[in-house]
Amino acid sequence: MKLLVTGGAGYVGSVVAAQLVEAGHQVTVLDDLSTGHADAVPEGARFVEGSITDPGPIEGFDAVLHFAAKSLVGESVQEPARYWRANLGGTLALLDAMRGSGVGRIVFSSTAAVYGEPEETPIPESAPPRPANPYGATKLAVDTALTAFAELYGLAAVSLRYFNVAGAYGRFRERHAPETHLIPNVLKVALGEREEVSVFGADYPTKDGTCVRDYVHVTDLATAHLLALDAAEPGTHKIYNLGNGTGFSVKEVIDVCRAVTGHPIPAVVAPRRDGDPAVLVASSEKIQRELGWKPEHAALETIVSDAWTALR
Ligand code: UFG
Repeated sequence: MKLLVTGGAGYVGSVVAAQLVEAGHQVTVLDDLSTGHADAVPEGARFVEGSITDPGPIEGFDAVLHFAAKSLVGESVQEPARYWRANLGGTLALLDAMRGSGVGRIVFSSTAAVYGEPEETPIPESAPPRPANPYGATKLAVDTALTAFAELYGLAAVSLRYFNVAGAYGRFRERHAPETHLIPNVLKVALGEREEVSVFGADYPTKDGTCVRDYVHVTDLATAHLLALDAAEPGTHKIYNLGNGTGFSVKEVIDVCRAVTGHPIPAVVAPRRDGDPAVLVASSEKIQRELGWKPEHAALETIVSDAWTALR
């Protein structure tokens, strides 16, 4: 297929673009490089530096895989308008361009952040969405627009709600500045780039007092996009959670990083970070049942060691 990958110079977008090229698709990456890196665009993909707010004519594409977004929870609380403009405004412009050019299929990167503080664990797609921050609210607004566009215009849409994406696919890895995510920050200590890692809160109602998250390997996450692309149906908006279904605490993650790197990785308890739910674990039963997705790299050791290998 001829595919447009927005945000394909970013972490998840570059891994999916690489897998699409390997699967024989004709891939064009559209990225404004505001947070992405030109050298993350995989070989074999065409690169267009530009914004989703002004994508120009996009006739001829069979589908769009839409990753381009602002994605930091903390930043979204500081600058909500920027998040609404980029994530909702940008996506509406992209949807207009798609409609104007007769492109009728989209796979969208949604997030666990749409659920906010969950009432049940693991979280099913039927859980009431109650985002606790502007980032989650903007992603939920796009999901709502996709449902409407499917009904109104016959769009074929699939939203994938990511939990905690981690790991690397060969050389394609996480490169955020500033880095806020747990696993890369812990590995920076092992690399000697940081003195210690902060544990944001050790008084949560969890097994060891630290927050529990569901870490999914970026390679498995990418595979789900290829399945979603095939499963998209005109007039329908399908929504799937993507996680491993197993929760690991911050302390457990640090222990696995110590074992993988052989570094003592000093950790200090710091105050809680605003907006962090105690436990976020996905039920991915729906995508497993409907699309036959299966996490192949579910072990946290594999996730961490792939991230570690790509960093060095
Ligand atoms: N944490 C630390 N120290 C750090 C970094 C993180 O203790 O240096 C803790 C956090 O407080 C949290 C856990 O590690 O409890 C995981 O934090 P991340 O920042 O790695 O990931 P989040 O769970 O905050 O965020 C992820 C995605 C978001 C998405 C969210 C869904 O990165 O895009 O899940 O709630 F919105």
